[in-house]
Amino acid sequence: MPDSHWRPARPADVAAIVHWVETPKALERWAGPGLTWPTEGTTLWQEIDASENASFCLVANDAPIAFGQLVDKGERRAHLARIIVSPDHRRQGLGERLCQHLIAEAHQRGADTVTLNVFVDNLAAIDLYRRLGFVTHGPIDTRGIQPMQLRQFIHDVDNIDP
Ligand SMILES: CC(C)(COP(=O)(O)OP(=O)(O)OC[C@H]1O[C@@H](n2cnc3c(N)ncnc32)[C@H](O)[C@@H]1OP(=O)(O)O)[C@@H](O)C(=O)NCCC(=O)NCCS
Repeated sequence: MPDSHWRPARPADVAAIVHWVETPKALERWAGPGLTWPTEGTTLWQEIDASENASFCLVANDAPIAFGQLVDKGERRAHLARIIVSPDHRRQGLGERLCQHLIAEAHQRGADTVTLNVFVDNLAAIDLYRRLGFVTHGPIDTRGIQPMQLRQFIHDVDNIDP
C-alpha cells in the first residue's frame, strides 16, 4: 500500500478527483444523482457540500489518492458518503483504510450509528463495506440504492442480515 496521510479535503483535491470519474454513470454511482455533467472542481465542491460536510483525503506526494465524506444525519448518526479511490491506486487496501479513518472520525464526533448508501450493482464497494462490518439495513429503493449500517452499532437486530 502506498505511504499516505490523512487530512481535511481542499477545493484543489476535488478538482483533481473529477478526473477519476469518466462517465455520468460513474459520477452518479460515486456521488449520487442530480449532479452536473460534465463536472469540474468548483461545481462539484459546491454540489457535494464539501465545505458543510466533513470531507477528507488520503494524500501521497501532495496529491489526493482517496476521498470520502462524513455527513451528520443528527441523532448521533454519521453517514459515509462519496467514497472514492484514485483508479491508479485501487485494490491496494486504500478504500479500507479510508473507511476506517472515516469510522474513527465518526466515533470521535460522538456518533453511535454509522450508515451509508450504495448502488446494489456496485459489487466492489459492497464487498469492501461488508468486509468492514457493514450489513444491509432496510429495503433497496426504486433507484437501486441499498442502505447499509455498521453492524457493531446496530441496535435493532430484527433489521439485519445474518
Ligand atoms: C469501491 C472502491 C472505493 C474500493 O477501493 P479500493 O481501494 O480498491 O478497495 P480496497 O483495495 O481497500 O479493497 C478492500 C476489499 O474490497 C473488495 N473490493 C475492492 N475492489 C473490488 C473489486 N473491484 N471487485 C471485487 N471486490 C473488490 C475486496 O474484498 C477487497 O479486498 P481484496 O483486495 O483483499 O480482495 C473503489 O473501487 C472506487 O473508488 N470505486 C469508484 C467509486 C465508488 O463506486 N465508490 C463507492 C460509492 S458507494
